[in-house]
Amino acid sequence: MPSLTIEQILRHAYQRIDKTDAHLLLQHILVVNHAFLLTHSDQILTLEQTNHFLHWVLQRSEGVPIAYLIGQREFYDSVFKVSDAVLIPRPETELLVDLALNLTPTNRACRILDLGTGSGAIAITVAKHRALSQVIAVDVSVDAISIADWNAKNLRISNVRFVISNWFSELSNEKFDLIITNPPYIAENDPHLQQGDLRFEPKLALSADHSGMNCMSHIIQTAPQHLEKDGWLLLEHGYDQADKCKILLENGNFTNICSYPDLAGIMRVSGGQFSVSS
Ligand SMILES: C[S@@+](CC[C@H](N)C(=O)[O-])C[C@H]1O[C@@H](n2cnc3c(N)ncnc32)[C@H](O)[C@@H]1O
Repeated sequence: MPSLTIEQILRHAYQRIDKTDAHLLLQHILVVNHAFLLTHSDQILTLEQTNHFLHWVLQRSEGVPIAYLIGQREFYDSVFKVSDAVLIPRPETELLVDLALNLTPTNRACRILDLGTGSGAIAITVAKHRALSQVIAVDVSVDAISIADWNAKNLRISNVRFVISNWFSELSNEKFDLIITNPPYIAENDPHLQQGDLRFEPKLALSADHSGMNCMSHIIQTAPQHLEKDGWLLLEHGYDQADKCKILLENGNFTNICSYPDLAGIMRVSGGQFSVSS
């Protein structure tokens, strides 16, 4: 392999992957910003840098998500480590965080539960912005919990605790002021699972039985046992699941049921308050 300059190797990459992706990958390997690539186009790469970049270009051309290659993704106001054991946090999930923050006062210690925490993006962000609150975050995946725990430590967030649990199974009688969740909600036969980034993400994080409603239904039915009186449940769901979600919430005796649109105007989060005393 002859020595290649930044400009030469980028030209090679442009024929195989998106230009922006090529820049991002090379910036990550060289630990430089975009301006550096432009102003140092004749810098020669080491053999190791060259091989690393060419390997990533090949993987990216096969569809591997950028976040899995560079091992991180920005969410809200932090950068989270990710691996193929966790869902890549999505911008639309920031709506769930905003709604959770609106329901959580800054001057009082609330107890918050995040179900299916994955990388910990939701739980850690809420804990970061509500320092008096205690956040418990669960996931059934041991690998996900280990990444979430790493992210909390890396971001120095100490008011969040991670538990390996099949939804509520390890929470005995614990009660919360707010339960938030972005559960798996894609139907198992949905063709989108064979497209784009979804092909590389864990099925456990993406799909659920009963047209994608299985986990949501279990969570809505069980949440009342773990909610304080007047506590709230907020769930992220698919673009066409708001009505089904609202019916489940009504059947579960929730009140103040509402759905909220994401930035694209799609109903993305539904929730309600549990006011029946237990
Ligand atoms: C859609 S992902 C959400 C990840 C993360 N909260 C986010 O928004 O980026 C759903 C998560 O639920 C977890 N999960 C699936 N089944 C579960 C179960 N039975 N109990 C607990 N967590 C589960 C998956 O491992 C995955 O991390």
